[in-house]
Amino acid sequence: MSNASLFQRATAVTPGGVNSGTRGLPEPIVWKDAEGAYMVDAEGKRYLDYHAAFGPIVLGHNHPAVNAAVAQAMTQVDLTGAGTTELEIRLAEKVVEHLPSAEMALIFGAGSEATYMAQRLARAVTGRVKLVKFQGCFHGWHDYLLMNVISPPEKIGQKDPASAGMLPEAIDNTLVLPFNDSDALEQLVTTRGHEIAAIILEPIPHNIGCVLPKDEFVQALRRVCDERGIVLIFDEVITGFRHGLGGYQETLGVTPDLTTMAKAIANGYPCAVLAGRRDLMMRFSSAGGDVMVAGTYNGHPVATAAALATIAELEDGTVHKRIFRLGEKARRGLQEIADRLDISMTVAGYGSVFVPYFMTGAINRYADLLQNNTEADTFFRSEMTRRGVFMLPMAMKRNHVSAAHTDADIDRTLNVAEDVLREMIARQGLR
Ligand SMILES: Cc1ncc(COP(=O)(O)O)c(C=O)c1O
Repeated sequence: MSNASLFQRATAVTPGGVNSGTRGLPEPIVWKDAEGAYMVDAEGKRYLDYHAAFGPIVLGHNHPAVNAAVAQAMTQVDLTGAGTTELEIRLAEKVVEHLPSAEMALIFGAGSEATYMAQRLARAVTGRVKLVKFQGCFHGWHDYLLMNVISPPEKIGQKDPASAGMLPEAIDNTLVLPFNDSDALEQLVTTRGHEIAAIILEPIPHNIGCVLPKDEFVQALRRVCDERGIVLIFDEVITGFRHGLGGYQETLGVTPDLTTMAKAIANGYPCAVLAGRRDLMMRFSSAGGDVMVAGTYNGHPVATAAALATIAELEDGTVHKRIFRLGEKARRGLQEIADRLDISMTVAGYGSVFVPYFMTGAINRYADLLQNNTEADTFFRSEMTRRGVFMLPMAMKRNHVSAAHTDADIDRTLNVAEDVLREMIARQGLR
């Protein structure tokens, strides 16, 4: 079966043929297999995968130890819907053991559920309604935080809800600041701190590639939240476990009040966590508190077993060492090629993540990325994908190295990238 004919069936019964608004591709691909660092489409074409399903795949696709743990769980227990399982107890214990901010943890199925519960809890414990987020950060699809992610230039500094149908009150009550701007933060908190329930951020805004936080900015965040009784939430849905079992908070040395994690914590299985201070977490209705928490599939044995197996693979540190080294190799290699070919490119990244921006100059916040040559960025990714190196053809998206990638895979990627960039110079005059 061809990709095109299968995809035609998809579009007849699924809006746009895909089950998420960010999964559309310029040329339809229907995936058949995924193993290690590779994915195979319906026509048998193999792709080296850097998309990693937006980040969950940290060990490699179809990882044998994760699969074995899932299979084992399935022989023992499925969904019980009352009480708990030993798997859930063990996962919460592991999160508390590894994540600096975690005194207690709740297990959900998706990152959006965890950020939704985090903001509800913050509003309940503070009795305030306003949330503060940062331009360029994404925290899931619910109304409370779905604003100002990849905004057009004229919407920066304005309300930019990312969907029709959102509740006007939710839009009104979410305030947006520029990332890494301590002055703007201080100013807002000084005038409106008494209204603010929570400040939420991706400690590295990976939804716009990779923008590293300034130390002074994260210190200011912790300080103003302490001074004003604001709940500080780190959304580590991408960074959690991908950058270390202690999340990026461990590297920063700044401990938030609440943390959300998903994606890489279960290597592709639907598992998310909300963790944080005991006094806050005890407000949830599961502990007899007044903040309702629910979810039929929360703590599902399959996802929980996958998370435990993923943690077990990550615990001795060799996976992170390997993916950080390969990530650095990809970043350096791409930057070297761009510099040699005299192309305006900045290869950003951290750990296993690399992001080639088609621009030069400082990158401290979303507005800086308006310099990115979106057309060149998207073309480069589409062409890499056409040549069997799958990079999501959407500007500024991250590439992720997994433990299944090899030095030879990175070498091949760099060779293909050089060919594509040379062609872009010859055909489009890219500089
Ligand atoms: C930082 C961040 N938070 C939350 C979410 C929402 O997670 P999910 O898609 O699992 O609902 C995402 C998804 O991309 C994310 O990147």
